[in-house]
Amino acid sequence: MTFPNPASPFDRRAFLGVGSLAGAAWGLRSITSLPVWPIAMQQPLRPQVRPHAHIRLRGRRDQIALRPGPTTSVARYEGTLVSGTASHLQTIPGSYFGPILRFHQGQRARIDFQNELMEDSIIHWHGLEVPADMDGHPEQAVPSGSSYTYDFTVLNRAGTYWYHPHPDMRTGYQVSAGLAGLFIVSDDEEAALSLPRGEFDVPLAIQDRRIDRGNQLLYNHDTVAGFLGNEMFVNGFPDYVLDVKTRIYRLRVVNASNSRVYKLAFSDGTPMVVIGNDGGLLAAPVTKPYVMLSPGERVELWADFSGKLVGAEFFLQSLPFTVAGPSGGQTPVNGAPLDLCKVHVVAADTETLTLPVTLSAIMPYDVNQAVNFGSPRSLPITIGMGMWLVNNAPFGMNDVAPNEYIQRGDLELWEFTNTFGMTQMLHPMHLHGPQFQVHSRQITPAGAANYETIRYGFVDEGWKDTIIVAPGETVQFLVRHANFAGKFLYHCHNLEHEDMGMMRNYVVMP
Ligand code: C2O
Ligand code: CU
Ligand code: CU
Repeated sequence: MTFPNPASPFDRRAFLGVGSLAGAAWGLRSITSLPVWPIAMQQPLRPQVRPHAHIRLRGRRDQIALRPGPTTSVARYEGTLVSGTASHLQTIPGSYFGPILRFHQGQRARIDFQNELMEDSIIHWHGLEVPADMDGHPEQAVPSGSSYTYDFTVLNRAGTYWYHPHPDMRTGYQVSAGLAGLFIVSDDEEAALSLPRGEFDVPLAIQDRRIDRGNQLLYNHDTVAGFLGNEMFVNGFPDYVLDVKTRIYRLRVVNASNSRVYKLAFSDGTPMVVIGNDGGLLAAPVTKPYVMLSPGERVELWADFSGKLVGAEFFLQSLPFTVAGPSGGQTPVNGAPLDLCKVHVVAADTETLTLPVTLSAIMPYDVNQAVNFGSPRSLPITIGMGMWLVNNAPFGMNDVAPNEYIQRGDLELWEFTNTFGMTQMLHPMHLHGPQFQVHSRQITPAGAANYETIRYGFVDEGWKDTIIVAPGETVQFLVRHANFAGKFLYHCHNLEHEDMGMMRNYVVMP
């Protein structure tokens, strides 16, 4: 039994069925006066800097033993250290999930992506702020048998970032086949805090998958709902059990699923104390009744198991919610209650840590300082002519609309509006480039009832790169592109929506 790898599992133009109409609509936008913006022209020549670590990531097919019976065909990133210390590369033995790359802020990373897949691919470093030609734009996708060398300085603050493929129209499929991994950054500010470390600092990358009777992964996605699996995987393992001692853990929960949204809570009532999210530590801990985590988002929990009895078992769960729209016949539907992984208390330990009152220094942006205060950069999320759209248009490799050019250095107010329409879906909207700060959320009366089942779980504090925009909601955020000019992406992180057009370029002018 082989992994289904259709030459063209979907074709955006076929999905359209009305390609010429969409083209005509696009033509109406009359945006021809602005130049196409090729990435290669935007980057100054970088001097060859000696990297702190040089890593090779082979994207390749492999067979792994997921469960008794036939082995499972996956695609995965296999990492080797070319130079540098072993601490930069942590392989997860027996997993399809990629190795964890670890860097300290300010370090130089060189990473060779070797494409041994049977199709084009490229890697994107989700949440990291890197030059445009290091960012994994689909334009940079390399064919089977070729490689792409990344060379960048890690500018980001300490946090849980991740990497995954980003080829045009094939991201959903390639991630579903197993290609993704974590990129964990440390910094001096974080190192000065007494946070759980080593074995008590645990990443939990959550994915839903579907496996057939021959043990093979299925990618039976739907163009509206995306891909919804019926089995939960954590760090690439089914039936994952988190063995803990009676003490405090730092849990870095990553939603690495294609389309499934989680409403996180512990089944035993352990409080959801949040210390970090997409862009690292919050200014101070916050406690939530539950945490909403859509595809692409991360949250770091201060999980206190110190009062538990040895032998106790409970679950990290997803609670039910009613806002996620159609499921394309896939069950469980988005919003159905799920157990994500079991927590098993295996040994007693003595706790010595206390929750820090302050975690990090975050200077809040002032909306009054935004250059477009009063007229936010307004980006509607819609479905039109059978395609997913953002900013009223589908993705085009070189398409940049007049309102997608921005000036480097400006503080800007952006807003995504998800009209309460026929699909009524959550859209996890993601920006490549710098982390941003959420400014406001507004819900229309039509969306209010469903919104009530998720609204207390948004972690809008701190720095974000991916945010849930609920049906009927307008989310505003403040962003400053300080570091890099060039062409970057923004898109829905429901990967099937992204593949089906809900992605656009924006250009930062130097
Ligand atoms: Cu994690 Cu462009 O995406
Ligand atoms: Cu990204
Ligand atoms: Cu979407």
